[in-house]
Amino acid sequence: MKAIILVGGEGLRLRPLTCNLPKPMVPIVNRPFLEHMVEHLKRHHIIDIILAICYLPDRIQQHFGDGSSFGVKLSYAVEQTPLGTGGAVKNAEQFLKDTFLVFNGDIFSDLDLTEMIKFHRDHKAKATIALTPVKDPTSYGVVELGGQSRVKGFIEKPSPERITSNLINAGTYVFEPDVLALIPAGVRSMLERGLFPDLVQRDIPFYGFNSPAYWLDIGKPDDYFKLNHDLLIGKAVSRLPGKPMADDIWLEEGCNVHHSVKLTGPIVMGRGCAIEQNVEILGPTVIGAGSVIGQGSIIDEAIIWQNVKLGKNATVRNSVIGDNTVIGDGTWVNDSSIISDNVTIGSGNKMEHGIRVWAGKTIADNAISF
Ligand code: GDD
Ligand code: MG
Repeated sequence: MKAIILVGGEGLRLRPLTCNLPKPMVPIVNRPFLEHMVEHLKRHHIIDIILAICYLPDRIQQHFGDGSSFGVKLSYAVEQTPLGTGGAVKNAEQFLKDTFLVFNGDIFSDLDLTEMIKFHRDHKAKATIALTPVKDPTSYGVVELGGQSRVKGFIEKPSPERITSNLINAGTYVFEPDVLALIPAGVRSMLERGLFPDLVQRDIPFYGFNSPAYWLDIGKPDDYFKLNHDLLIGKAVSRLPGKPMADDIWLEEGCNVHHSVKLTGPIVMGRGCAIEQNVEILGPTVIGAGSVIGQGSIIDEAIIWQNVKLGKNATVRNSVIGDNTVIGDGTWVNDSSIISDNVTIGSGNKMEHGIRVWAGKTIADNAISF
């Protein structure tokens, strides 16, 4: 069965992590998010995958190519301007002749796809939508179910007084190809505001597949932190890169860790990292390939991307540091701060209270202290 993954969004809410990177390429425990998704599909023998791309398409195509190095066959449906979730599916119509799957490209889940496809067939559905319960449904698509799990109502991002259920659209669908006729061609449209309410109104067999599987949309910084954290502590499951050095410390090849370094897992370290003397690293922490952590620094629950250079006696706590960023001696980065890629921060700065630093910025020595 073919699957289409919608990966064309700009990832605005994840900025500054997505200044120079499309959301599906953002690293989750040292691998682009989309690799985790592709692996999940492969576990259910779904290997013929179409990527609907638009924002920074080259970054995705260069990494994944034809999919052969990831054990899948990839095709691309490229949009010149964003066509929305509906328009993106319609744009891939030429690839979709039989029953097919659609995935929002920013959801991490271990949803049982095999079961979902069986449910779709057993119910003779034209469309089936995966559902998950959440505490606050206002930022999602809310689904109301009737008997036999038939969808009775779909409201995208409702105001609190319109909420009738805590079950939301989990962003995975099984469609029969005839539903494509209900999506207008060549114009921007959203499945959530067009096709889904339309299916309900026309009384077309549309069902909800409720599941207790792990589920997270990585669209917001807090959830980006949470997914890395959950994978490191084993609450969500995916293959972690590297070899275990101890129970919960995974190192890829070529890491140079000074014998005086104190490591408290879970920690994942990419290829060729250098950890200098008297550094302390406390998990859950990820350090990207080629990063250098200077003497006496402290890393505590941090997500550090590739080729980051941390000076001496620096501190990074509960924060993200993007690719190629340089942090000066004695600088602190604390409290859910996000420093994007290619940033240079001089020594003696205190970056706290969730500060965001945009890609490419330079901050002088002793310039910031909250
Ligand atoms: N190709 C393409 N073109 N992809 C797009 C476009 C587009 O114009 N617009 C959005 N996407 C992709 C995004 O990249 C993302 O992977 C997915 O479609 C969903 O878009 P989001 O912008 O992340 O939507 P959301 O999170 O606010 O809401 C959606 O997901 C919720 C679950 O997390 C909706 O489907 C909700 O109903 C749902 O509950
Ligand atoms: Mg989303």
